[in-house]
Amino acid sequence: MNRDLEAAVDHIVQAFGSDRTRLMDMVIAVQQRFGHIGDEAVQTLAMALGVHAVEIEEMVSFYAFFDRAPRGRNRIRLSKTPISFMKGAKEVAQAFEQALGVKIGETTADGLFTLQWTSDIGLADQEPAALVNGVALSELAPADIPLIVAALRQADVSGALPAYPPHAPDAEKLAKSVIRSSLVQSGPLLSGSPVRAAGLRAALALTPDAVIEQITQSKLRGRGGAGFPTGMKWRLTRKASGIEHYIACNADEGEPGTFKDRLLLLEFPDLVFDGMTLAGYALGARQGLLYLRGEYASMWDALQRVLEERRKDGLLGANVGGKASFDFDIRIQLGAGAYICGEESSLLESLEGKRGSPRDRPPFPTERGYLGQPTAIDNVETLVCAARIMEKGAAWFTGLGTKESSGTKLMCVSGDCARPGVYETPFGITIHELLDLVGAPDAQYVQFSGPSGQAVAPKDFGRRIAYEDLSTGGSTMIFGPERDVLEIALQFADFFVDESCGWCAPCRIGTTLLKQGMEKVVAGRATLSDLASTEALANTVVRMSRCGLGQTAPNPILTTMSSFPELYEARLAAASFEPLVTLVDALREAVKVQGREPVTVDA
Ligand SMILES: Cc1cc2nc3c(=O)[nH]c(=O)nc-3n(C[C@H](O)[C@H](O)[C@H](O)COP(=O)(O)O)c2cc1C
Ligand code: SF4
Repeated sequence: MNRDLEAAVDHIVQAFGSDRTRLMDMVIAVQQRFGHIGDEAVQTLAMALGVHAVEIEEMVSFYAFFDRAPRGRNRIRLSKTPISFMKGAKEVAQAFEQALGVKIGETTADGLFTLQWTSDIGLADQEPAALVNGVALSELAPADIPLIVAALRQADVSGALPAYPPHAPDAEKLAKSVIRSSLVQSGPLLSGSPVRAAGLRAALALTPDAVIEQITQSKLRGRGGAGFPTGMKWRLTRKASGIEHYIACNADEGEPGTFKDRLLLLEFPDLVFDGMTLAGYALGARQGLLYLRGEYASMWDALQRVLEERRKDGLLGANVGGKASFDFDIRIQLGAGAYICGEESSLLESLEGKRGSPRDRPPFPTERGYLGQPTAIDNVETLVCAARIMEKGAAWFTGLGTKESSGTKLMCVSGDCARPGVYETPFGITIHELLDLVGAPDAQYVQFSGPSGQAVAPKDFGRRIAYEDLSTGGSTMIFGPERDVLEIALQFADFFVDESCGWCAPCRIGTTLLKQGMEKVVAGRATLSDLASTEALANTVVRMSRCGLGQTAPNPILTTMSSFPELYEARLAAASFEPLVTLVDALREAVKVQGREPVTVDA
C-alpha cells in the first residue's frame, strides 16, 4: 500500500468529515493531489469511507473531468460546438496539435500535455475557447497557441501540478483568463448598481409566507427553461414535511449557447446569494447549495470570497441580517463535466456525491430532494429575479413583459451576428426584433433555447419570445446563409450522444442511431425511407426516454426537418426508385411536434 496516498486520502476524507455525501469534493481533492484517481486511490477511498470500491468506481467513471488513468500534467480542453467550429476551433485545434506534436485525444510522450475536445464551456459569445487546467481562455487564434504552450512548458519546470479546480497559484499565473464581460444590454433587472442585500432585507421584514406570496404575485417563472411558477415551487417546498428544507441553485448551465449564469455569478454574485438566502428564509431552510458546473471552476475562489464577506457582514451565518433565529449558510458544490447534472434530479444525486443519474418522479424534489428532504431547485437567473422582486415589488415585475411572462429575460446570443453577448430584453419581443438588436440581418436559421429547444426558420422570425409562444432558457444561436443547417443538426445530435448518461436504452442507443441517420443525410446518402425511419426513431426516443435529456435529444433533427424540409429534400440520395411516401408524409410527425405546416414542400 502506498503510504503517501493512504495518508493523503485519510487527510482528505477527514477534511470532509468522513461524510459519504461529500464524495465529489473528496475525489476532486484526490485528483488535484495525484493527477488522477487510480485503482489504489479508489480502494483507499472506499476503505476510509467504509463503502465498497464499486461505489466509488461507478461514481468516478461517470464524470468527464475525473481521470482513472494518468493524463498529461496540463489539460487542454477545447470547446466543441457548431459555434466554436464556425469561429475557427478546428484551426485552433490544429495549431495545438502542431505545437504539441499529438492529435486531439492524445497525451504527449513526456506526459506534460493532454489535448481533447469538451462540450460547450459557456463562452459561446467568445469562441474559440478552451479550458487550460480549468482556466477559461477565449477568442483564441492559431497564432496564440505556441505562446500558450511555451508558457505552460516553462511553468511546468516548477514541478507544481496544475490544478483542477484551479486554486493553485501556478495555474492562475500561467494561463491568464482573457474572458471579457458578456453583458451587452442591461435592462430593469441588471441596470444601475443593484444594492447589496436590498432584496434580502426587504424579505426579512416580512413573514416567510408573505415572501412566497410576493413571489407568487410577481408571476415569476423559472428561467432554467421549463418556466415552472417559482412561487408555487416555494409554497410546495415550504409545506412539505421534513427534518430540514433546502434551497439549491442550479448553476450547471450546460445547454450549449447559454452563458448568462456565468455572467450573473461573475458580475452579480451578491444578487444570486441574496436570492438564495431569501429563498432559504421563505422555505424554512438552514442551508443553501450552489451547484457550480465543473467548467466554471475558475470562479470558485471569487465566489468563496463573496461568501466570506457575507458571513463577516452578517448576511450568512446565525441570525442573518439581524433576523433572530434565521440561521443560514451556503455551500458551493463543484460539478465535474456532465450536462445531465443540470437536470434537477441528477443534480441532487450529484450533490449527494453520486453519479448524476436522473431519479424517477414522483416524488418531486419539492417533497423529497437533497438527502430526501424538501428542496426547491432554482436557476441562477430565477434567484436574481427573486432578489429584485423583493427589492422593488411584485407590481414592478408584472409591469414588465407580457400577461403570462412577467419581467425580462436574459438572452444569450451567439453565432453569425455583429454583437454577440447577453441581452436583457423584455418578454414579448419577436425574434426579428432580437436579430435587429444584435446585428444579424441575414440570419437563415436560429437554434432557439439550445439544442434541446427548436430550429426556427425565417418564416417564423415574427414569433414572440414569451412563455405564451416561444419559451427559452436563453440560448440563441444564429446561423447565416452560408451555414449548413443539416451539418449543424448533426453536430447537435453528436452532443447528445456524448451527454446521454446511458441509463436507459432508448436514449443511449437511440441518440447514436439518430446521429448515424443524420450522417447519412449530410453525406447525401439518405433516401426518403431513411428519412421516415430516422423521424420514427426520433419520436420513439422522445416518447420512451426516461428523462428530459432523451426526451429533447431528437429536437435538433425533428425541428430542422419541420422548419427546413426543402434542405432535407435537396440532400436526398439521387436513388432511382419510386418513393412509397412523399416528403410531407415522411415529415408528418415532425410537423406535429413543431405545430406548423412546412410551406415550401413539393408535395
Ligand atoms: C438535460 C437537462 C439539463 C438541464 N440543465 C439545466 C441547467 O443547466 N440549468 C438550469 O437551471 N436548469 C436546467 N435544467 C432544468 C432543471 O431540471 C430545472 O427545471 C431547473 O433547474 C428549475 O429551475 P427554474 O424553475 O428556476 O427554471 C435542465 C433540464 C434537463 C432535462
Ligand atoms: S434519457 Fe438519457 S440521460 Fe435520461 S436517463 Fe435515459 S439515458 Fe440517461
